[in-house]
Amino acid sequence: PVLVVDFGAQYAQLIARRVREASVYSEIVPSSMPVSDMLAKQPAAIVLSGGPSSVYEEGAPQVDPALFEAGVPVLGICYGFQAMALALGGEVAHTGLREYGGTKVTTTDESTLLHGTPADQSVWMSHGDAVHTAPPGFSVLAESSGAPVAAFEDKTRNFYGVQWHPEVKHSTFGQKVLTNFLYSGASLPGDWTTGNVIEEQVARIKAQIGDGKVICALSGGVDSAVAAALVQRAVGDQLTCVFVDHGLLRQGEAEQVEQDFVAATGVKLKVVDAQERFLTALAGVTDPEEKRKIIGREFIRVFEDAARAVVEEAQESDGEDVKFLVQGTLYPDVVESGGGTGTANIKSHHNVGGLPDDLQFELVEPLRTLFKDEVRAVGAQLGLPEEIVQRQPFPGPGLGIRIIGEVTKDRLDTLRQADAIVRAELTAAGLDREIWQCPVVLLADVRSVGVQGDGRTYGHPIVLRPVSSEDAMTADWTRLPYELLAKISTRITNEVAEVNRVTLDVTSKPPGTIEWE
Ligand code: XMP
Repeated sequence: PVLVVDFGAQYAQLIARRVREASVYSEIVPSSMPVSDMLAKQPAAIVLSGGPSSVYEEGAPQVDPALFEAGVPVLGICYGFQAMALALGGEVAHTGLREYGGTKVTTTDESTLLHGTPADQSVWMSHGDAVHTAPPGFSVLAESSGAPVAAFEDKTRNFYGVQWHPEVKHSTFGQKVLTNFLYSGASLPGDWTTGNVIEEQVARIKAQIGDGKVICALSGGVDSAVAAALVQRAVGDQLTCVFVDHGLLRQGEAEQVEQDFVAATGVKLKVVDAQERFLTALAGVTDPEEKRKIIGREFIRVFEDAARAVVEEAQESDGEDVKFLVQGTLYPDVVESGGGTGTANIKSHHNVGGLPDDLQFELVEPLRTLFKDEVRAVGAQLGLPEEIVQRQPFPGPGLGIRIIGEVTKDRLDTLRQADAIVRAELTAAGLDREIWQCPVVLLADVRSVGVQGDGRTYGHPIVLRPVSSEDAMTADWTRLPYELLAKISTRITNEVAEVNRVTLDVTSKPPGTIEWE
C-alpha cells in the first residue's frame, strides 16, 4: 500500500481518498507508529500528512530519519513537508507570518512533481512556519509570498514535498501533483480497482468464515447491504440476513430490501414484521431522546429474538453453530477510533449493542478498509439496486424522529406520502447528488388553517429540510429552485389529505441540526 502518515490533521483521510481515486491502494497510519512497523507493511510509497501548526511546538511529532533510509519514495505535505525538511537538514523558519486559504504559487523550475501544471497556480495553504532552505540534494520548485520554498524534490532519492494541500479541491492542480508523485515519482501502476476490492474481500471472508454460519442485520441502508452482498458472494447460503421492519422506513424501502435486494443477490432473508410492536412501544412518547432510546432498544430485542431463532434452526438442521456476525463498519470509523485493530474492535462490539452472552459472535467486517464512495462503487459492481447503492443518509430511528409529536400509524402514512413526493421531484430535477439529504418533517402537533375549494381545512404543516454537506458535521440549506419548490408544494397540498401547508427550513448547521429532533 501507500502509507499516509497521519500527523493529526483532518486531512489524512482526504489524502488517502485522493490516492485511491488515483487507483492506488492507501492506508492511514498514526505518526506515532515506529518506522520499523511502517516498513513491515512494505509500503510502495509514503505520504506525510499535514498536522499541527508548527514543527517547533512543544510535543510536535517529528519524522524519524530512518524513514528516509529505506529507499521508499516519500511525499511531504504541509506539516509533513516541513518535518521532512528538518529531518533531512533543511531550515524551517519560525516566521510568525501565516498564510491561510487560497494562495498563488509560482513554479521556479522544471520538475517531476509539478509537471503538467501551469507556472502560476492557485493552491490551498495553511501554515505558520516556512521552509527557508531546502535540504542538501533538493531543488526548489515553487515559491509563494509566504513560502520561499513552497515545493521541492530530490529525484535521485525520490523525495518530494509541497507546502500546500494538494488533496483539497481548492488546489486546482492538486490531484495532478499527487498523481505525478504516485505514477512518475514512485512509478506505481495505478491499477487498484473496485474489482480488486471484491476479489480480495471475497477471499478474506472465505478464509475467515470457512464453512461456518453467519448472520447479518439489514437496515435498508447502503453499508449493511453491500457488506451482506460481499459475504453472500463469498459463502452463499451459509449467510442468513435478518431485516427488522420497524415501520419507520420511507415508502418503498422495505420492498427494496425484501424484493429487489434479494433478487439481486439471492440472499436468504428472514423478515420480521415488528411494526405493531414499535408503534405500541412509541405510543404517547413525544420526547426525541426517549424515542431514540425506545427504537434502539426494541430493535436490539427484535434482532436478538430473530438471531436466536436462526441459531436454533441451524443447530437443529445440522448441529452447526452460527459463529459470525456481519457489520458494515467503514474505514473512517476504524481510523477515528484509533486505527489499530484493537481499538476498532471495541467500537464495533459496542455497535452490536450489547447482545446477551448466548449470542456472542465473531465480527465479519468486509468494508473496514473502504470509504463510503468506494462502498457505493462496490455495491454497484455487485449489481445491487441503484436506490440502495445511492441512498442518501437516513437516520436509524427513521421517520420516528421526523414526526414532531407522537408517532402513530396515520401520521407515518401521511409523512411517507409527502416524503415520496419530495424524493420523486428531487430525483426528477436531477438534484440527488447535489443535496446531502432532504428530511421531510411532519409538524404533527401543529395545526394550521387553510382553504381548499370552498371549504376551510385544518391540517398540518410539513417542513422541507434540504441540506448540502460534506460530512454532516456542518451543513448549509440548499437553495432549491423556486419552480421546483412550487411544484413540490402544489403536489403535496393536492395529494396528501392531511397536509395543507408546505414550509422551507432555511437554517444552516450550526446552529440548527439537520434533523428536527
Ligand atoms: P443532525 O440532526 O445531528 O444529523 O445534524 C447529522 C446526521 O446524522 C443523522 N442522524 C442520525 N443517524 N441515528 C442515526 O443513525 C440517529 O439517531 C440520528 N440522528 C441524526 C442525520 O440524518 C444526519 O445525516
